[in-house]
This record gives sequence, structure tokens and C-alpha cells, in this order.
Amino acid sequence: MTNCNASRYHEVHAQSLADPEGFWGEAAKAIDWIAPAKKVFDPSVGLYGRWFVGGVLNTCYNALDRHVAGGRADQVALIHDSPLTGEIRKFTYAELLHEVQVLGAILQDLGVGKGDRVILYMPMVPEAVVAMLACARIGAVHSVVFGGFAAKELATRIEDARPKLILSASCGIEPGRIVQYKPLLDEAITLASVKPDGCIILQRPQHGCDLVAGRDHDWAELRSKAMAARKSADCVPVLATDPLYILYTSGTTGKPKGVVRDNGGHAVALAWSMENLYGVKPGEVWWCGSDIGWVVGHSYIVYAPLFHGATSVMYEGKPVGTPDAGAFWRVISEHKAVAFFTAPTAFRAIRKDDPDGSFIRKYDLSRFRTLFLAGERADPPTVDWAEKQLKVPVIDHWWQTETGWCIAGNPVGLGQLPVKHGSPTVPMPGYKVEVVDEAAKPLPAGTMGSIVIKLPMPPACLPTLWEQDERCKEAYFNEFPGYYKTSDAGYLDDDGYVYVMGRTDDIINVAGHRLSTGGMEEILASHPDVAECAVLGIKDTIKGEVPCGFLVLKAGVARSTADIEKEVVALVRDKLGPVAAFKLAIAVSRLPKTRSGKILRGTIKKIADGDSWTMPATIEDPKSLDEIGAALKGRV
Ligand code: COA
Ligand code: AMP
Repeated sequence: MTNCNASRYHEVHAQSLADPEGFWGEAAKAIDWIAPAKKVFDPSVGLYGRWFVGGVLNTCYNALDRHVAGGRADQVALIHDSPLTGEIRKFTYAELLHEVQVLGAILQDLGVGKGDRVILYMPMVPEAVVAMLACARIGAVHSVVFGGFAAKELATRIEDARPKLILSASCGIEPGRIVQYKPLLDEAITLASVKPDGCIILQRPQHGCDLVAGRDHDWAELRSKAMAARKSADCVPVLATDPLYILYTSGTTGKPKGVVRDNGGHAVALAWSMENLYGVKPGEVWWCGSDIGWVVGHSYIVYAPLFHGATSVMYEGKPVGTPDAGAFWRVISEHKAVAFFTAPTAFRAIRKDDPDGSFIRKYDLSRFRTLFLAGERADPPTVDWAEKQLKVPVIDHWWQTETGWCIAGNPVGLGQLPVKHGSPTVPMPGYKVEVVDEAAKPLPAGTMGSIVIKLPMPPACLPTLWEQDERCKEAYFNEFPGYYKTSDAGYLDDDGYVYVMGRTDDIINVAGHRLSTGGMEEILASHPDVAECAVLGIKDTIKGEVPCGFLVLKAGVARSTADIEKEVVALVRDKLGPVAAFKLAIAVSRLPKTRSGKILRGTIKKIADGDSWTMPATIEDPKSLDEIGAALKGRV
């Protein structure tokens, strides 16, 4: 076990809390500023203060230009590896910069300026990274929408962000199936009450699409024209506190929350994390196996490795089936990655296909130093398997879309702390993590409660929700005054290790993807035959959790319940998207409730999961739970 006395962690964390301005002011030296901040932290502005107030910078400059100028022009910045197309494409820092300069100019020519929003609905192709950086370059605010979301979800985001342009592609590629993006995009634009001025469409050779005259532009055509005309966008200076992007994440209703990320704090915290948390040096190869549609992809496929001058691998494939359970080891070995970041669900999928790890031994992993896991709780059996098979430290770390980077982790760059299975280890600099009861009273070590973060949050964490300060306060700051509510429940141990055990709201985590059961219930309830419904997350050996919907049909509905169940499954796929993995709907005659009418979701979940449960004292009719048990027989 690693000796925790050898780690600089405790000293560094203590300093970050004792003197936040000193700590982050020092960290800010890793970033190139056009004008330094007038105040490292100003508690008098924003919802809980703002970082680097008055500072001026450009995020894209920090990701690309300065490395080209500083000697990394010919170093590979981005490796795109797609087992789904059989292609590997590499871009040096100079090449990536050129692509970004050209696309930045194209966006400007189409009328996009500082502060304008641009939605990216893109598969995992390098052009998506180019698009994010081009927006950052010209001061536009990107909002990436994950490709696995359906048209209605995209429409909601178009309504909220009101983008000037949408960048998309003809298709995405999933194993065994082409996902046609264009019909989804067209439908979303039809559904949305606000329309973009235009769209730029990347035609992929695997499946082309028709363009809408007068609205859609062909990406390749614009690019070649702009290159021929030697167009190039300069970096537009923005304030540290200006928004870099909006990323929508599931809230407790069907309406997603637009998490805002600023430019300055984001650059500083992410640059700090690469060396100190992940232990990666400039020039080394880093791989984050997420999707650019998620926060992990934003931060660790795109921004952090580029701020740091590392080489980032972008992977369009799966852990298994593309072509086999050795896919990850092939990528690590082929591109010489020193560290890899993925979700535990991917490891569960690999372990199922290759329990003895025989694929691992086919590849040279000698350069590989550390595996990082996040997105859901890293269950101890999976961590144990990964440690034994890979023989490198396996580091769980906990974070949220709202924070943009890790809340609790094991900082291998500062000196690794002992790993305790089931815990993502300790709070990162700037995070004072506490566990409190309903009255915001701190609880002793070992006692479960709500996990909260003492305000102010460190740089990179959300300053607000897009144009919704009140909703932000309501969602995060009102319930526990002086704290940010994580909506995660857990405890701290005597060594200050954090244990994150589950959500306190209706969010479920499906294969590392965050989804709202409330949102799914809204869809189920929209079916004409459904009177009442409840969706909850039930255990799944690979995905961790999957949604399961219970339906009570309207009186007098004479249609086959099996047909209605199939229809609601299709409805969720159609309205929310395949990513929800909603495959199980069960019609029941009633839902178990308390005498005050509250659906007993917790007990239903225990029955579905096969866990032990006790009869709630407040139940209206105990027989209703037996009915649930009977309905679940043979279905889970
Ligand atoms: N565009 C369109 N559809 C998509 C998509 C995208 N970008 N991403 C996923 N989907 C679809 C899949 O094709 C699948 O559809 P299906 O119901 O027709 O099979 C559905 O959405 C669910 O996808 P996924 O969650 O990827 O499940 P899977 O069964 O295809 O694969 C795992 C299971 C465990 C291999 C996979 O979930 C995985 O690799 N997870 C890692 C997640 C991760 O890295 N999360 C980031 C958090 S750090
Ligand atoms: P997202 O915003 O999609 O990144 O999801 C954030 C949520 O995922 C958190 O609030 C947790 O519930 C869960 N989560 C992420 N990482 C971890 C982890 N390492 N351990 C436990 N839960 C996690």
C-alpha cells in the first residue's frame, strides 16, 4: 500500500482552503492571460462569488496557439481512433490550430460573434473537437448535445440556448447500426419554437444526407472554400467570467439544466488537474474514453489535455464488440497512453466477456501507469478485478457535470494516497466536503447523510444555470445555506475519505449516463392509456442501473397490456433517446403508496433488486407490494 505520508496532498489541500486566493492565484500562472484578474476571487459578485474577476484570456489560445508558438507545433495533439470506421487520424498542434482557425472564420462569416450560442450535435469525430475549439476561439458559447438523445431532447436544448448555428453530421455509427442524425436534427428544429439561422453538416462517407436549401451548409465545402481564401480567425479576448460553454444535464424534471462553465476558472482548475491529480506530463499521451457529449469528454478529451500540452486520444468505439474485449488494451498499447479514464460500466462489460483478462496479456501495456474511473460508483469487485488484471493503480474519482472536474479523487501527481475500495478518496483542492443532516448539521464520521460542499466552490464549478439564477439557487444553494448541495448521499470516514453511495433525488445512473426518472415518467404519462406511472432504477450487472417503469392503465382500457408496454418503451426511445436504455415497462393494477399518497419507490426498488425489505408502517395496503412482486416475476 502507498505511504500516505509521502503524499503532498494534505498540505496542498489545507493550503487551498486556508488561502484560496493565494492557491488559485499561483495555479493561474499555468495559463496565459491577456490581462490578469483584478481579483482572484470576488465574493461580492455572482451567486456565491466569481473567480478571476476582470481577467481576460482566450481558452483556445491556451489549448493550441501557445503550444504551437512554444515548440509543440509538430507534436500530435489529437489522435482519433475509430474501430467503427477502421480509421485512425492524427492532428499535430499546428494542424489542429489551422483547422480551428478556418472553422472559426467560417462561423464568423455566418454571423456568429462573441457570446452567441452554437449547438453541436455530433458523433465522436475530430471535427467535433475542432468545432468546440473554434467556438472558444471566437468567444462563442458551445453547447454539445450527446448523440444518443432524441429529437425532443435536442429541441428542448435549442429552445433554451437559442443557438445562432447548429453543427451536426449526417450520421453516427453504433455497432451494427448507422444512427442517422439528420432526420433527428430536422425534427428537433421543427419542434423548437426558436430556429437557428443555419446548420453546418458534416457528410460522413458511411451515410450521407440531404441538405435543406437555404438553411444547411456542407461542412467540407465551406472548409475548402475558406482554406482557398486563406481565411483564419484570430482569438477573441473574453473575460474569465464569460461563458465558455453550456452543458445540459438531467434535472429532476423533464427540463434539463443548462450548466454554465466560465473561461478563466475552467482553464486554471483543469490545467492544475492534469499533472497533480492525473500525474500526466506535457508531451505524454492521455486517453479519456468518454463521449464529448458528457462533461468528462469536454474536460478530459478536449480541454485539459490540450491546456497541458499532452496528446489526447479520442475513441469512437465500445469496450467490447469493436471488435472484442481487447479494444481498450489495443488503443492504450498502440498509442502509448500513460493513463486512461473511463467508467466502471465499461470494465464490467469487459470482465463479462473476458473474465480471465486474456486479451490484456496480448498487448504491450508497459507505458500504462494509471487507470481512472468515474461517472458512477466504482463497485469494489470491479476495482479489484481491474487491479489484479492490469497491475496498475485503479483510481476512482467522483464528480458531476456541475463541477466540471473532480470533487474527490486520489491525486497521483501529488503522491498517491492509499486506495480504499468503495471510496473515491479525498476532496480535491478548494473543495470542503461535508456530510450533513436535513438541518444542515454536520454529521460524525461514518454516518450517512447529504454530501454538501462549503461555498465557495473552487474554480471551474458552475457559476449558475444558463439564464436561470433562481433555478440554480433553488437546485443547489437554498436547501443548505452556505453550501452547494450535490444531491449525492454518503459519508466520510475517520481519515476524511469520501464514500458516495447514491443520489438523494430521482436521478439514476445508467452505464455512467445520468438520467432523470421524473423525465421518463413525464413521457410514460403522455401515453393516452396510462393513468399513473412510476419509473425507478433497478440493478443491472453491466450498466449498474437500468430504468424500469410501472404503469397503471386508465379504467376501461381494453387493449392488450403487452402492446401498451411495448408502445411506452418505444415512446421513451423516441422522445428521450436510446441512451436511456428503457426496455422494461410493466403494467400493474395499482402502485403501492403510503396513506398520504406517496409512491413507495424505495420499497418497490428493493423488491425488484431482490434485496431484503420491510413493510413500511405507513403503507395504504400491504397487498399492493405482493402484487408488485408477482408482476416482476420472470420480467427481471
Ligand atoms: N448516438 C446514438 N446512439 C447512441 C449513442 C450515440 N452517441 N451512444 C449510445 N447510443 C445508443 C446505443 O447504440 C444503445 O442503443 P441500443 O438500445 O439500440 O443498443 C443505447 O444508446 C445505449 O447505449 P450504451 O449506454 O452505450 O449501451 P451499450 O449497451 O451500447 O453498451 C457499455 C454498454 C457498458 C459497453 C457502454 O455503455 C459503455 O461503454 N459505457 C461507458 C460509458 C461512459 O464512458 N460514460 C462516460 C461517463 S465518464
Ligand atoms: P454526471 O453529472 O453525469 O457526471 O453525473 C454525476 C453523478 O454521477 C454524481 O452526482 C454521482 O451520483 C455519480 N457519480 C459520478 N462519479 C461517481 C463516483 N466516482 N462515485 C460515485 N458516484 C459517482
